[in-house]
Amino acid sequence: MSNNIVVAIDGYSSCGKSTLAKALAKNLHFIYVDSGAMYRAVTLYFLRHNIDIHNTGQVVEALENIHLNFHSRDYETHITLNGEEVSDEIRLMPVSENVSPVSAIREVRKEMVAQQQRMGRSKNIVMDGRDIGTTVFPNAQVKIFMTADPKIRAERRYKELMPKNPDVTLEEIFENLAHRDYSDTTRKESPLMRAEDAIILDNTNITPEQQLEFALQKVAPFLKRS
Ligand code: DC
Repeated sequence: MSNNIVVAIDGYSSCGKSTLAKALAKNLHFIYVDSGAMYRAVTLYFLRHNIDIHNTGQVVEALENIHLNFHSRDYETHITLNGEEVSDEIRLMPVSENVSPVSAIREVRKEMVAQQQRMGRSKNIVMDGRDIGTTVFPNAQVKIFMTADPKIRAERRYKELMPKNPDVTLEEIFENLAHRDYSDTTRKESPLMRAEDAIILDNTNITPEQQLEFALQKVAPFLKRS
């Protein structure tokens, strides 16, 4: 039996999951996987090829033609879609506005979850997303469920997007986050929810360093055993 360590970090959109996951992976020399980037890359492909998300045949065929790869450079997410680097494009508003309905499609989730499970089969890994502790790795040794005040989350995302996307507004981001929270928590296929054994981390008023310290403490007992 494989005794690799899996840290699952789930939570609402833009509440700092990837910042924490990256810092933790870097500190522990674990692999970091941003599962949201995978749903975003699939969404980009669907947009570019005008895939009708209500047409299951089209969706399944499209999934067969999508090849995703992660290239980790200094723990930043570099994802390729059929060989093309799309890491920046998947963060822009057209993808953000369409990713929730795409990620709610059963066939899409089935394929992404299978790929994610393969990535965590034998390596120590930190993966962030919405269903990592509930569906992808229900046996993860450490599960963290992150939340933060919605206004703070929108401001953080705004600061992140502004330099590359100066037309974006805070209101637009706030609306998009509220909308994604709603769709992600109410969808039929593995909705966003806290796994019963996940520890809640509300980071509205705590620094990234404090969050890292908190997570390291949770992982420490498993490092000693492995
Ligand atoms: O983490 P993010 O904002 O990049 O995720 C983009 C979208 O993908 C988000 O609206 C919900 C979806 N997602 C998901 O359904 N399951 C995951 N494990 C990760 C993301």
